[in-house]
Amino acid sequence: MAVTLVQERLGASSMAEQVLRTIGPVVLLGPPGAGKGTQSKRITEHYHIPQVSTGDLLREHVRQQTPLGIEVQAIIARGELVPDHLVCDIVAWRLRQPDADRGFILDGFPRTQKQAAWLDSFLKFEFFETGKWASWLPIVIRIQVDYNKLLLRITGRRTCPTCGAIYNVHSNPPLVDEICDKDGTKLVIRDDDRDEVIRERLDTYERQTKPVAEYYDKLGRLVTINGDQSVDDVSAAILKEIDGRACGVASGTEAKGN
Ligand code: AP5
Ligand code: MG
Ligand code: ZN
Repeated sequence: MAVTLVQERLGASSMAEQVLRTIGPVVLLGPPGAGKGTQSKRITEHYHIPQVSTGDLLREHVRQQTPLGIEVQAIIARGELVPDHLVCDIVAWRLRQPDADRGFILDGFPRTQKQAAWLDSFLKFEFFETGKWASWLPIVIRIQVDYNKLLLRITGRRTCPTCGAIYNVHSNPPLVDEICDKDGTKLVIRDDDRDEVIRERLDTYERQTKPVAEYYDKLGRLVTINGDQSVDDVSAAILKEIDGRACGVASGTEAKGN
């Protein structure tokens, strides 16, 4: 199994030595194209906590044709959700890496009520009851964008297969057409960014992921942010929420409580 290769490529142990404050779990919810990946990268740079994108992890397995990748590639290509137990296993593996000790951004997870319930107990047992964190309750941020704008964003998206940078031919083009600014790699269009698959992904979000937002809303955990602003303005709104609610360490010296 190519887990080690996947791990190396995704930088699982980078920044493990940073002595910075504990942020805890941050969940970014939102439909395809809302800007979860774009914002996760900025939060990562700001707090030095890793982005845990289930979409990126799954695509990496597909790229490397691991047994898991082979199993899920047709599901992703259709725009449907990968079965809960497979996604939860990947997330568990990723959150147990040492660079996740101060916190992490979950980009695209949880996406079903089962995943949300699984996450609650995982965080409780692995981070709270072990004494690492003062709370296991995530900060849940929903990025909201109008349906028609989502279509334009997704069809204009280009990504770098080397560094994962996200561009948009309309709103955030690279300096040289179709080439990554950071490393000169030719940009690609994601396989599931085809018109018929985009609609299926948007429908799947309505049916299966909207109830997750309602679940967190009932718990008083949900913050909704207008994603129809500049990338900088969306980032500023997200950082403000995180600064106000970060969970702190179990000793209480940094904790703000939840
Ligand atoms: P995943 O990779 O998570 O895709 P997604 O949820 O469909 O979201 P996207 O990555 O398309 O959008 P984004 O919100 O990250 O937007 P981005 O920042 O790129 O999942 C893919 C598949 O994997 C799923 O369909 C499923 O099969 C499987 N999967 C993943 N997680 C799973 C789970 N938990 N359970 C089961 N299956 C799972 O931005 C989009 C574009 O807009 C970019 O071009 C960007 O430059 C631009 N943009 C961003 N912000 C702005 C702004 N403020 N103004 C203008 N343009 C902007
Ligand atoms: Mg994404
Ligand atoms: Zn790149």
